[in-house]
Amino acid sequence: MQRLSLFPDTTRVTDKGLSIGGCDLSALAADYGTPLYLYDCATLDASTTLYREALSEHYPAKSGITYAGKAYLCLAIAQWTQKHGLWADCTGQGEIAIAAAAGVKREHLVVHGVNKSSQDLESAFRHAGTIVVDNLTELDRLISMPASHNLPDLWLRFQPGLTVETHAYTQTGQAGSKFGMDRNNILISAELCRRHSLPLRGLHFHLGSQFRDPAPLGPGIGRALDLAAEIGFGSEWTLSPGGGWGVAYHEDELPQPDAKKYIRFIAEAVIEGCKQRSLSLPTLQLEPGRSLVARAGVAVYRVGTIKRSGDRTWVLLDGGLADNPRHALYGTRYSALAVSRPSGPDDGMVSLAGPYCESGDVLAIDLSLPKVEPGDLIAVPVSGAYHLSMSSNYNGACRPAVLWLANGQAQVIQERETPADLLRRDHPLY
Ligand code: LLP
Repeated sequence: MQRLSLFPDTTRVTDKGLSIGGCDLSALAADYGTPLYLYDCATLDASTTLYREALSEHYPAKSGITYAGKAYLCLAIAQWTQKHGLWADCTGQGEIAIAAAAGVKREHLVVHGVNKSSQDLESAFRHAGTIVVDNLTELDRLISMPASHNLPDLWLRFQPGLTVETHAYTQTGQAGSKFGMDRNNILISAELCRRHSLPLRGLHFHLGSQFRDPAPLGPGIGRALDLAAEIGFGSEWTLSPGGGWGVAYHEDELPQPDAKKYIRFIAEAVIEGCKQRSLSLPTLQLEPGRSLVARAGVAVYRVGTIKRSGDRTWVLLDGGLADNPRHALYGTRYSALAVSRPSGPDDGMVSLAGPYCESGDVLAIDLSLPKVEPGDLIAVPVSGAYHLSMSSNYNGACRPAVLWLANGQAQVIQERETPADLLRRDHPLY
């Protein structure tokens, strides 16, 4: 069954239905409630190994992998990055605090942000090994900070003026984007760094997210290398071409975009580009989020009711928009399996929606499923990236519990929120 290949590597169909990481999903839902998010350790480990092996196969100089924390960050995931020697990309003081609490080493922590607050910069000073400077104002603020003699390494964020094929909301490298600096401002920044003896050590760009054609990375790398040649980094510098490699969310999008092909494409473009410009090879730092964690994550919902409306059959779940706004934001089409009968015969098309007061609170439109009834469980694959990190308390929704699955054991890595959590920040008026 093709749909099964969207799920984590350890997913099996047993006589009790779906199991992941050696754990029965029905039993987990009974023990921990729904909506429930699951992360399969084996799938996370395998996606990291794939990145590492492809880099060492295709790139002869130093290289590294930075996990883009914005995809999903919590203590456990930050600790997992350290177990694998990954760097962690944090946007702002909140993510920095999580990474620091998990023991992410200074030299592994890189801070991004298009408009970093002074608190963000202060916590970057305290905990980070690298700050990626987005704009000239930020650079001025860094120069005038009292501890500027003690700065982390700086990389400059370049806006290459190139477009990757993806949803407009997840493009970042095109001209006119709010991210990074054009060629001129990069050169001005480099000059300022030289004048103030700041530790300028690299260039970064990120073209966008959820793309599956690496072609625009070729000219992106070329333009970044042109800049590197003009700046004159010498032999020790880092180039980060960001992240953004896509995943299949629905069986119609299979096969999965091949991450090895993407890594090889980047490695070859950097090697060839450096040769043409007589540059020494930089440390190559890739920055994936989704392609590391998306397929390791599964969301489990319980069916509350089934409603026929016009020519549509709505299967209404106990979660949706509040834990996964991606259909509403980008029109992403999700797939799903019925947990107790994953390979049961199709019973026609249904649409999956959540309980929230918003017509965009939808996960899937016209998906074939076996017959499901109130009380049944539905598992939605590819739920590991940009769901929980973009989740909300809309309608007073409490964020789901999150479990880490490894070797037949389930461990809570995030508690389910409760209404008491929702009240925690509030002060009465009277
Ligand atoms: N590096 C930088 C500087 C980024 O801004 C991002 C993502 C990444 C790396 C990682 O990209 P990834 O490999 O995960 O695609 N909310 C959207 C995605 C926004 C991505 C923002 N930046 C979504 O749900 O599709």
